Amino acid sequence: MKEKTYYVCSNCGFKTTKWSGKCPNCGEWNTLKQEIQNKHKSHSLNIVKLDEIDLKETINYKTNYKQIDDFLGGGFVSGGVYLVAGSPGIGKSTLLLQLSKYLLENNHNVLYISAEESANQLSLKANRLNSKIQVLESNDLDEIVFALKQDYNIFIIDSIHTIYSSEVDSYVGSINQVRLCAQKLIETAKEYNKTLIIVSHITKEGIIAGPKALEHLVDAVFYLESDEKFNHRLLRATKNRFASTEQVVIFQMTQNGLKIVEDEFLTYIEDATESEGKAIGAILEGSYLMFVEIQALCVRSPFGMPRRTSVGFDLNRLNMLLAVIEKRLGISSLEYDVYLNVIGGFKINNTLVDMAVAASIISSLKKIIIQKNYVFLGEIDLLGNIRKIKLPDVLRKKLNSSNIKLFLQENTPNVESLLKAILQGH
Ligand code: TYD
Ligand code: MG
Repeated sequence: MKEKTYYVCSNCGFKTTKWSGKCPNCGEWNTLKQEIQNKHKSHSLNIVKLDEIDLKETINYKTNYKQIDDFLGGGFVSGGVYLVAGSPGIGKSTLLLQLSKYLLENNHNVLYISAEESANQLSLKANRLNSKIQVLESNDLDEIVFALKQDYNIFIIDSIHTIYSSEVDSYVGSINQVRLCAQKLIETAKEYNKTLIIVSHITKEGIIAGPKALEHLVDAVFYLESDEKFNHRLLRATKNRFASTEQVVIFQMTQNGLKIVEDEFLTYIEDATESEGKAIGAILEGSYLMFVEIQALCVRSPFGMPRRTSVGFDLNRLNMLLAVIEKRLGISSLEYDVYLNVIGGFKINNTLVDMAVAASIISSLKKIIIQKNYVFLGEIDLLGNIRKIKLPDVLRKKLNSSNIKLFLQENTPNVESLLKAILQGH
């Protein structure tokens, strides 16, 4: 029997034959762990004729909540394997208990396998959601594989990090455990045509095997994110074999679980007064528009080296926008300190607010107040042109019947027309 030694990163699952202190793939330190592979497989080829394959029937298990079913591409698919990832405490268990409830109410039988919380703890949560979900309390891989073969269609595993197989000589939650357990569960789900939803945590430290290591094994990867201030939860797909990844679902966390946000407009604006240096930006998420307030303060710099400070928006991007404004509009910020702030404590990682950032800077430098019903949506490129985006019809309709004036590529193709719009509204 020939043995081969290799190293696997506990953060991203990267495999290499050479050990190093830093993972060459994800850059984390001290994450490469040794593994030994036995090379004694015998070869047997299983060649089949395509027309003789007994195709498994695909069923869609709907939740009967339009936003969720649309997000899923018509419901959970039989034989489909889903990964739901998010930070601890963000509401993954709450979400899945709730999805179980919806599926149950729609006459789909679900088994919730809790490997992390006791059925008691879970029932406290479920009580708040008023639900009669069936729960198996287990973290034993063999037992769970056995459960998967039983007469349920949809299985939820919460979470993969606490499942243990004695076949692997490694601690619970290690990359080896997580990967082997996930593989076995997925194989079984596929073989028995069951829907499998696997919960996975994200940690910054990379100590617990991250969902990155599982992403390629599953059909769909969902992330649950939050903005703490407004207690919203955003469900996003980074991969989905069964639907487009453009849709998102936004929930509000309440005392009685997560409620789907029905309104397409989400405003994160606290103060509706007009003032210099203020612009409202919009971010497009699926069929939601989120409004955020951007403030810029440009004051004469007492020093030769003007300061640029940004809270909630990328500083490099701010510098780029200042350069574009100077080059294309001849509005110079060279002698000014520039402070930029996204109100509400948001960290905006989205270039769709470029136009609003540029508008707030122009407003501050030129001392022009922007009308309060003006909203800007669009990424600005290096040449000062606005990128085109596709606005969903629901939003278009809703905007038409509101008093909001939305500036985007179709009516404001570049920074010159942005300046013109601001001046005209003045
Ligand atoms: P949880 O689903 O346990 O998070 P995760 O599984 O991602 O670790 O959610 C935990 C938080 O959600 C906890 O702080 C309590 C809160 N919560 C509510 O606000 N309302 C509810 O109805 C429930 C069930 C939980
Ligand atoms: Mg949980």
